Amino acid sequence: MDNRPIGVFDSGLGGLTVFKEIADQLPHESLVYFGDSGRAPYGTKSRDTVIKYTLQDIRFLMTHDIKMIVIACNTMSAHSYEFVRRNHDLPIIEVIGAGAVAAVAETRNKKVGIIGTPATVNSGAYQKAINKLDDSIEIYQKACPLFVPLVEEGQEWWENDITYNIAKEYLAPLKQTGVDTLVLGCTHYPLLKNTISKVMGEGVTLVSSAFEVARVVKRIISDKNMQRDPRLTPTYHYYTSDSVEKFEPLCSAILGRTINSAKKVDIEEY
Ligand code: DGL
Repeated sequence: MDNRPIGVFDSGLGGLTVFKEIADQLPHESLVYFGDSGRAPYGTKSRDTVIKYTLQDIRFLMTHDIKMIVIACNTMSAHSYEFVRRNHDLPIIEVIGAGAVAAVAETRNKKVGIIGTPATVNSGAYQKAINKLDDSIEIYQKACPLFVPLVEEGQEWWENDITYNIAKEYLAPLKQTGVDTLVLGCTHYPLLKNTISKVMGEGVTLVSSAFEVARVVKRIISDKNMQRDPRLTPTYHYYTSDSVEKFEPLCSAILGRTINSAKKVDIEEY
C-alpha cells in the first residue's frame, strides 16, 4: 500500500484529458496536476528547452512527495522520457507507447495518420513505436502547431469556424491518404475532437492515448502493490504557472466538475 499521490503534468491544459481518465479508472488514488500554461506551447521549442522544462516540472511535483510521475504530454514524452527515466527512481509513465498500442488495435486498413506538435512529429517517435508493433502499417504525419494555442485560448475556440478552417487546412493532406485511424498525438487535441472529427469524416476513428495510459498506470500500481488505502478519500490538487482565473473554468469544463482550489506556481524557481 502507498498513500502518496500520483503526479501528472503537461505544458498546459491538455494533460487534464489524461488526468480525467486516471481519476475515472483509479478512483481511490490522489492526484496532483501541474499545467505549465505560462510557458506553453512546448511543441514549437527546441529539444534542450523541452528537457529543461520537463525537469523543472518534475522537481515541482516532487515537492508533493509523489509515488509516480505521468508525463501527460507527447512532446515531453518524445524528447525527455529517456533522459528522465535514467535519472529518477520513481515509476515514470509516458504517453506515446500507449497511443501506439491504441492505434495498432484500431486500424483495419493499416493506414494510420498522426497529428501532433512539430516537436513530436519531427521526433518520429510515433512512427517508431507503431512500426515496432506492426511494421506493415503505413504512417502519415502532420504537425498542427496552432492547435495547442487555440485550446489554451479557451473553450469558445474549440469548435468555432476559425478553428474548423485551420483544421481543414492542416488535415487535407491526411484525408487524401485514406487513413482509417488518426492518432491525436498531443494531449490537447482531444479537446478539439469534434472539430477534427467533422473535418476527417465518420470513416476515420480518432485515437487518443488517455484511456490506454490510465490502464498502464493501473497495471503498474497493482503490479508494484502501490494502491492507496481505499478507505481514505482521495485528494486532488491543481497547479498552473499562469492565471488561476483562466485555469479554473477551463479545468472545470474538461473534468466536468467545479474546480476552485487551483494555485499558481512560479515554475522558474524549480
Ligand atoms: N499536450 C502537449 C503534447 O501532448 C502539448 C505540447 C505543447 O505545449 O506544444 O504534446
